[in-house]
Amino acid sequence: MLVLGIETSCDETAASVVEADGPGPVGHVRSNVVRAQLREHERFGGVVPELAARAHLEHIDAIVAKAMAESGVGFADLDAVAATGGPGLIGGVIVGTMTAKAIALAHDKPFVAVNHLEGHALTVRLVEPVTFPFLLLLVSGGHCQLLAVDGVGSYTRLGTTIDDAVGECFDKTAKLLDLGFPGGPAVERAARAGDPRRFDLPRPLWRKPGCDFSFSGLKTAVRLVAATLVAGDATGIADLAASFQRTVGDVLVDRCANAFDLFRHRVGNGDGGTVTMVVAGGVAANLHLRERLSGLAEARNGRLVAPPVALCTDNAAMIAWAGLERFRLGMVDGLDFAPRPRWPLDEKARAAIGRSGVGAGVKV
Ligand code: KG4
Ligand code: ZN
Repeated sequence: MLVLGIETSCDETAASVVEADGPGPVGHVRSNVVRAQLREHERFGGVVPELAARAHLEHIDAIVAKAMAESGVGFADLDAVAATGGPGLIGGVIVGTMTAKAIALAHDKPFVAVNHLEGHALTVRLVEPVTFPFLLLLVSGGHCQLLAVDGVGSYTRLGTTIDDAVGECFDKTAKLLDLGFPGGPAVERAARAGDPRRFDLPRPLWRKPGCDFSFSGLKTAVRLVAATLVAGDATGIADLAASFQRTVGDVLVDRCANAFDLFRHRVGNGDGGTVTMVVAGGVAANLHLRERLSGLAEARNGRLVAPPVALCTDNAAMIAWAGLERFRLGMVDGLDFAPRPRWPLDEKARAAIGRSGVGAGVKV
């Protein structure tokens, strides 16, 4: 089974063809083309929605053509065409869904609208035989959520951020420390040379019950400490980056520990059987955080599974794979599907609060 996926919900224009090897998890990526819009947004220090939409429009046809050529298959060989239908910056989502619908119509293939977050959630099953249910920590530029994943399209939110997303916090920290954009990888690089114990930063909601997160106090504390550093103090910058990253690790571990207990209780796994926790989204590319979460999972008689780093940040293989998983369960969409700027994974839960600053409110 072959599916073409298209991703345009933020600042990556991406297309990919994936193939399923059998009826369950694990497939392979035949092509995965990503064009990151770095130049377009760099001088603004964040994604500017209108510029993003125009860049998607300019590049989408060439990116799809490249993904098809590299996949070695033609449109006629596809079983379905998938695109991110939301949540995200609406101009970009319109470009991606219109392109996918046009291809689907021209080649008489079904169209599948994929929730971008479901793309992150299911990516792990493209590469590893992870079965349902699993515990998911979804950490990206617009999200920080803990979810129980019971199946394709079946999510229960256990906790979410009450203010900022963790990726946004990395991006803000990078900006304050003048480390460049995108911020997450820059903070991780700077932190390697730093002392993670030098600055004692606040850990919001630390040791409180529940699985919600809060990062705004940490963000403010980083700003206040950064203001005390003199310009060009490379050691101070590295120490602050490392202290910040360690603090984020402390917070994620604390919240995930509660989620482990809640999840075990939910699935009736009181005997302490192994729980699989998956970490996904752009921030899951961070190796320090992976290590910390892996330690927690082991301590709780669980295991941590994370997709390869290249599949953590936005790409279209995750959309193609989620589209494939939906398609084979008969979950297809009409060509009248309306792109959604907001689209919670767990529709029963109240809407989360989005990120602030440039590109505010995306992916909620
Ligand atoms: O999933 P993603 O590519 O886009 C969204 O759906 O938001 O996530 C992007 C976020 C950005 O905030 C970026 O700074 C963060 O993921 N990120 C990282 C790392 N790589 C990307 N954060 C921490 N460490 C990283 N290595
Ligand atoms: Zn994403």
